[in-house]
Amino acid sequence: MRCLQAVEKQDGNSCSRPLCSNNMKILVIGGGGREHALVWKLARDTPGAHLYCLPGNAGTAAIGVNVPISAEDVGGLLAWAARERPDLTVVGPEAPLCAGLADRFRAAGLTVFGPSAAAARIEGSKRFAKEVMHAAGVPTAAAEVFTDSGAARVFIRKKGAPLVVKADGLAAGKGVTVCDTIEEAEHAVAEALDRRAFGDAGCEVLIEECLVGEEASVLALVDGERAFPLASAQDHKRAFDGDRGPNTGGMGAYSPAPVVRDELWPAIRSRILDPTLAELRRRGIEYRGILYAGLMITAEGPKVLEFNCRFGDPETQAILPRWDGDLGVALLACARGRLDPAAVRWRPEACVSVVLAAGGYPGSYRKGDPIEGLEEASQMPGVTVFHAGTAIRDGRVVTAGGRVLNVTALGADIREARDRAYAAVERIRFAGAHFRRDIAARALRARES
Ligand code: AMP
Ligand code: GLY
Repeated sequence: MRCLQAVEKQDGNSCSRPLCSNNMKILVIGGGGREHALVWKLARDTPGAHLYCLPGNAGTAAIGVNVPISAEDVGGLLAWAARERPDLTVVGPEAPLCAGLADRFRAAGLTVFGPSAAAARIEGSKRFAKEVMHAAGVPTAAAEVFTDSGAARVFIRKKGAPLVVKADGLAAGKGVTVCDTIEEAEHAVAEALDRRAFGDAGCEVLIEECLVGEEASVLALVDGERAFPLASAQDHKRAFDGDRGPNTGGMGAYSPAPVVRDELWPAIRSRILDPTLAELRRRGIEYRGILYAGLMITAEGPKVLEFNCRFGDPETQAILPRWDGDLGVALLACARGRLDPAAVRWRPEACVSVVLAAGGYPGSYRKGDPIEGLEEASQMPGVTVFHAGTAIRDGRVVTAGGRVLNVTALGADIREARDRAYAAVERIRFAGAHFRRDIAARALRARES
């Protein structure tokens, strides 16, 4: 049995409880590419662990056991966990966290990596996140909150475009509109407040100053007290090359992101992560899990666009292959103890992950098309193919979601990682597949200039 310690002294006593053993039971909640990457890394780091994914996909089924319970069915998940008693539960998506999954699991005596509902409001309510940031002095866009569309229109006309209109609550990634004109901003407000396009999630809107710069994602492990940032990453949210077309859940990612220059890290820690956690603590809220800061790197330094309460998707698929430490040990330490900073180490290689999406995504798309070439692609140097929207039908892997696969590669640098990932993409075929051809292009341009 492998026994590892990643806890530091707690309350003056050395914590000697073994963190990971090779017969432990680990439950990962969710069924996308992020969850496949988590299960893949946990399986490598804790050989022999019993891994369960609820509901999982065809990729997680090849590593562990899938159980067909939806990630949003908190009652069903709790009933399963109360029976099976996993040693660690890792929560992928935000919805169950905002619905109180971590609180209910902890009340049942289970160990969970993921914040309480009170802490998950940092993602679940953009208004709450802004209040916390203002109280903590965290750099972010100036914003006003409105429940009345008439008052919002007066404000929009006074401020002028560009502006950003955001629904307060969770809106499946569709609640933010960057508006270049006053008319667009008025339309976005009417959609949310008058036509209730986002239901209750949009009964309050924030109207924000539009920040200018390059975006980057910084995810930090939080152990109840301190934040340990992971390697930086950059997502590609638009559907088509050159950041054109509709927003998606993310069409690819790479790590590290050169825009997060070394000299920015002290400010990211001391002006963003640490004061946010201190302000939550001041409000009686303990944070255990990932604190994800979506940043705009502006001429005045990094500013927060949003916080998320979970691992990013697809950033996680580009970050975890670079992680040189033991993920299970680190997540357990955050869930129930204190994390040893030495657990967070990085391989020098870069990583690029390209999303292969179903034809029509992010609009309506087909499901059930057979996928060819997975085996061949996975055997290429440095390549791992994470599954996102896949399922097994009659013994074959078929498409089952909008984002189907995350074709991921490590390389000596971003260029090699990118070339390897695209070489693997060429080997995979399914009807209607589409992907962006410029994942990581911005990083390469930055390096060249
Ligand atoms: P969010 O869900 O808040 O991250 O917003 C989604 C996307 O909208 C971000 O990734 C940015 O591209 C854009 N965005 C959000 N807030 C702003 C802002 N204040 N200024 C400029 N762009 C923004
Ligand atoms: N990649 C964006 C997100 O996970 O929210």
